Amino acid sequence: MYLIMGTIRTTGIQVDLRQAEKIRKYLSENNILRTDLKISKDASSIYFPVKEISKELDSYTTIEREFEKRETKPKSYKEIVAIPDNLRHELPTSYNIIGNIILVKLPESLLKYQKEVGESLLKTNKNIKTVCLTQPVSGEFRIRDIKVIAGENRTKTTHKEYGLTFNVDVKKTYFSPTLATERKRVATLVKQDETIVDMFAGVAPFSIMIAKYANPKIVYAIDKNEYAVKFAKQNIKNNNVLDKIEVIHADAKEIYRILNQKNAKVDRVIMNLPFSAHSFFTNALGIIGNNGVIHYYDIRKEEKIHERINKLKKTAKESRATLKNLNVRKIKTYAPREFYIGLDITVRKNTPM
Ligand SMILES: C[S@@+](CC[C@H](N)C(=O)[O-])C[C@H]1O[C@@H](n2cnc3c(N)ncnc32)[C@H](O)[C@@H]1O
Repeated sequence: MYLIMGTIRTTGIQVDLRQAEKIRKYLSENNILRTDLKISKDASSIYFPVKEISKELDSYTTIEREFEKRETKPKSYKEIVAIPDNLRHELPTSYNIIGNIILVKLPESLLKYQKEVGESLLKTNKNIKTVCLTQPVSGEFRIRDIKVIAGENRTKTTHKEYGLTFNVDVKKTYFSPTLATERKRVATLVKQDETIVDMFAGVAPFSIMIAKYANPKIVYAIDKNEYAVKFAKQNIKNNNVLDKIEVIHADAKEIYRILNQKNAKVDRVIMNLPFSAHSFFTNALGIIGNNGVIHYYDIRKEEKIHERINKLKKTAKESRATLKNLNVRKIKTYAPREFYIGLDITVRKNTPM
């Protein structure tokens, strides 16, 4: 942790050791004691650094003395990072913490100072062991281009949320700590003995939250990324929900065929693949039962949200289904006027004439 060491020569009062506690209390309650300096003592006296000598203190011996500075913890890494002052306003205010790893995005202008930023984040966050410079998630597997800039050279960690533990490799698998509340919310909606499909399960945080906090019959956790599948299996074992989740390493486009073999009747589908979930909507409609619920996630510009909903409705119509409850929840801001949205869509299957 960062320390400011040294001494300051300043005013204090000398008090007999036997009166020490009484006077300390008085000085502290009246906001006279300097809290940035350490109280000192010798065999017979104690020395309090004070802000002023008020009338009430007249009866005590006033002294000038060296007082040791207290260790102070900076509130933010911004206070200690060694960069030119004209760039300070560009320092990011937020960053992601996954387990004991910080993932920080930097603007072009600060890339030259990535090491300084990394070191200061490490010093000001006591449980952090590694700081990584990251690009936004991208590509089919929604993974990040990552570089360790401070601390231990590793990208694997264990993240905890709501008493669950998730092993993650932040370089090879997607994971977002900011969706914890959303996962918990979905788990509270699950009814006894439901069959659930987590179509883009990643390291299985939705599946595990549901298996742990609800009582489903089974959750099928599907992912195409072999690393996500490997971590999902570990996480399911570590959270003791082996009997509730089946991990499937496959393309979600294959879901109908896979579930057909299992004779599964699906009550709920989770589609957490922003930007692309819409192109799998027909697949989700193909497996869901009448009155089933699809938790659909996307990232959209404000003005493009309704266009997407209309597209989903059209897809449903083509699949002889009607969609209910198309209320949009803005879960978080992704970029200016661009949101991570969630919909809990109820699907009515139109029976053939
Ligand atoms: C945004 S992540 C969501 C992961 C997880 N649901 C979570 O909340 O952490 C999307 C996941 O979908 C997986 N994925 C992408 N395309 C897929 C496909 N065609 N079939 C199955 N999984 C796919 C990616 O590998 C990634 O793990």
